[in-house]
Amino acid sequence: MIVTVDGPSGTGKSTVSKAVASRAGLPHLDTGAFYRAATLAALREAIDLADADAAVAVVGEISLDQDSGRMFLDGKDVSSEIRGDRVTEAVSQISSHPEVRRILVNHQRSWVAEHESRAVVEGRDTGSVVFPDATLKIYLDARPEVRAKRRARQVGDNPDDVIRDLARRDLLDSTREASPLIVPDGAVIVDTSDLAFDEVVERVLSLISAKS
Ligand code: DC
Repeated sequence: MIVTVDGPSGTGKSTVSKAVASRAGLPHLDTGAFYRAATLAALREAIDLADADAAVAVVGEISLDQDSGRMFLDGKDVSSEIRGDRVTEAVSQISSHPEVRRILVNHQRSWVAEHESRAVVEGRDTGSVVFPDATLKIYLDARPEVRAKRRARQVGDNPDDVIRDLARRDLLDSTREASPLIVPDGAVIVDTSDLAFDEVVERVLSLISAKS
């Protein structure tokens, strides 16, 4: 049972996929945390983020793991650090290098294989690239103004700044050449704009039940 949950930020992807995993008794994998940890490593080495070879040299050497919702870079818990502004600003650039993505996708597939191929996996390309044969693919979406409001509440920023940052990241994530954010083949699209959190979770759980 592999359930993929993709979609842009501010759609409730992270909270929904964690709740679904917990209710369904499945391990949860946040693939965005791998991109964030790789970005943190690149920032620490002070490389030119646009230099694909330099990025690959850094990302190819690091060890990455996720356990109980915590992200580990070279054995150290970096869960808080990877949520900082510096990483959030730089992550789209590191995510745009195809070879970096290949390395991180391999880490993600190994993680799921080590968890007996049972997981709820969330990200931007998990149903299209990482697990194209997943048991169930969900694509969460929401209207831009709803996403910005949710995000602003989460990070406590001015909604106008958040709208600008979301638009910038959406553009980068959906127009990059390597694995752009798309609705994966066979995915069920769930628009969360007018749904309560519990309703989204119940809908996904019933889709899982239909597959088991
Ligand atoms: O979900 P998040 O905001 O933590 O993801 C951080 C960034 O990582 C996001 O802007 C794009 C990138 N990402 C990606 O390219 N592919 C994934 N599967 C997950 C995240």
